[in-house]
Amino acid sequence: MKRRNYLRIYMQLFKISSPWYVLIMCALLLSFLLTYANISMADYSKKAVDFAVGKDMNKFTRELALFIFFFFLSIIIDSAQQYILDLFNARSANKIRTKMMESYLTSKYKEISKYRTGDIENRILNEATNAPGVLSHITIGYITNVIIAIGSFIYLYRMNTILALISLGVGPLLLTVGTIFGSRMRKIINERMQAESEALSDTQEALANYNFIKAYNVQRDIVNRVRYRWQRLFDFQFKIELINRYNVLSSAWIKDLSKIALYGIGGYYIYKKSMTPGTLIAFIQLSSNMISPFLQMSYMLTSLVMAMASAERVFEIIGLEKETGIVQKASYKDVKEKQNEYIWFCGVDFKYDKDMVLNDLSFSIQKGEKVCIVGESGIGKSTIFRLLMRFYDPCEGVILLQGKDIREYNVDELRSKIAYVHQDTVLFTGTIRDNIVLGKEDATEDEIYEAVKAAGLYEFISSLPEGLDTRVSERGSSLSGGQKQRISIARALLKDAPIILLDEALSALDAETEKHILISLKNLYKEKTIILITHRLSTTAYADRVLVVDDGKIAEQGNFEELLGKQGTFYKLYNSKVKTENANREAAVFR
Ligand SMILES: Nc1ncnc2c1ncn2[C@@H]1O[C@H](COP(=O)(O)OP(=O)(O)OP(=O)(O)O)[C@@H](O)[C@H]1O
Ligand SMILES: [Mg+2]
Repeated sequence: MKRRNYLRIYMQLFKISSPWYVLIMCALLLSFLLTYANISMADYSKKAVDFAVGKDMNKFTRELALFIFFFFLSIIIDSAQQYILDLFNARSANKIRTKMMESYLTSKYKEISKYRTGDIENRILNEATNAPGVLSHITIGYITNVIIAIGSFIYLYRMNTILALISLGVGPLLLTVGTIFGSRMRKIINERMQAESEALSDTQEALANYNFIKAYNVQRDIVNRVRYRWQRLFDFQFKIELINRYNVLSSAWIKDLSKIALYGIGGYYIYKKSMTPGTLIAFIQLSSNMISPFLQMSYMLTSLVMAMASAERVFEIIGLEKETGIVQKASYKDVKEKQNEYIWFCGVDFKYDKDMVLNDLSFSIQKGEKVCIVGESGIGKSTIFRLLMRFYDPCEGVILLQGKDIREYNVDELRSKIAYVHQDTVLFTGTIRDNIVLGKEDATEDEIYEAVKAAGLYEFISSLPEGLDTRVSERGSSLSGGQKQRISIARALLKDAPIILLDEALSALDAETEKHILISLKNLYKEKTIILITHRLSTTAYADRVLVVDDGKIAEQGNFEELLGKQGTFYKLYNSKVKTENANREAAVFR
């Protein structure tokens, strides 16, 4: 990470934790109080020892009592400072986490799809916790030590200049040792973070794909893969701990060396009567305070690098490009002519990365129309929905909704007009009712049942002892694929959206049930514009119109009979599907 980035991250952290500046100021103030308490402790212990040597019991007791008082005071101040910094960390981390979540949910799909879920989870849960430490425990902690060191040095320097300088002398040695270990540590830290994200992502995938792993009998491969990731993480962690241990040990030896010098030279001064035994006691107490900033310099840099790396990864998520409605007039012609069309794709080009997926795609749909989109797998059907919902924007061309470029709508407004049922059904933990009313929390019982009936769910729900209030377990594993799909459809129907996009949303149902649902959708939701992507071409007979996608364009369109009559792309697609279906049926007979 470059130095410039450090500054930027500091500024970002300052900005995000601005409501809690006062906590940082209090912690800083306590640093001065702590310095005062530490020096007072040394001073009263010095006096106590000197009075004891002088056999003045009364004064000895008084000084000892003051020593004890400052001893407890320093413990209280220290704990209070830690508490304040912990509070600052917790509050800032929570704000950071909320910002990350907001950012995740409002960023462009294109941006988010680059990350693995485990990686994002790690950033939100762990790294958001580490990031505020940059300002609190690391920076304030270090500043506190520097303040205490300066205070201690001034106090000791005034008592015995030479001994104070000797005590300080081991500082550069500690700094050198710390720097050597620190630089080794910093090299490993980034790799460790990377390894942690990979380990979490693989573990998360393994847990999420339980059924698949069992069905394919690949438990051993998956366990090996996850074990390898954890082993790598462990190796880095172990190295870091080893370096830390050696650093602590060698620093402790150097500190002991300085104590030997203190005892030797101090003892000599006492012998020469140029120093009291109490002064030596004060030196022994304060000398480690004085050199601790040298000792901690490298620790601090290492922790800073770690926390900075976390903060950088956290702000990367917060800074992702958002899907604000780009209020701009796109350059499109003939808009006036098409003002009456409800949905209009005009000359749309689109690619995810290199290859063109949609190439000069144009079509229009009327309000209330029920349209099917068909085409080979991977041809770009789901992409059409993603563009209409503005998960992505076209590279060229324009998409109009009610005569207005969809980029001119606020994204929330645009999406409120659309109910989308995804190719992979999504259910949340809760009851079936919770899942259905997700898009319309205030739906009446009648509205819910209307949607349930249209989605062909009524009989199933009636057969359940708890009906709509039956709980759905995690990932909906207690329901069949078709039941899950129908719950998603009921949810989409309930949402007050004039457009319903169904992306293979009926694929898990048998042809007969699919037919019934389509007919009831047509009859009950005349006002709604419904677009269905399907691979089951017989279904398209119930649609007002069929759009056949091929080679990035609409190759053909018309109703089922017209398209069969044309003997073109649809006809070929239909024949090949029928052949496959027949072959499957025959294979089933022979089995
Ligand atoms: N996020 C993505 N990044 C890169 N390429 C993608 C992405 N999503 C889809 N593609 C590619 O774009 C093409 C069109 O994908 P799309 O999902 O629209 O196909 P589809 O017609 O819906 O297919 P299917 O019937 O199998 O669902 C495919 O070749 C696919 O590999
Ligand atoms: Mg698809």
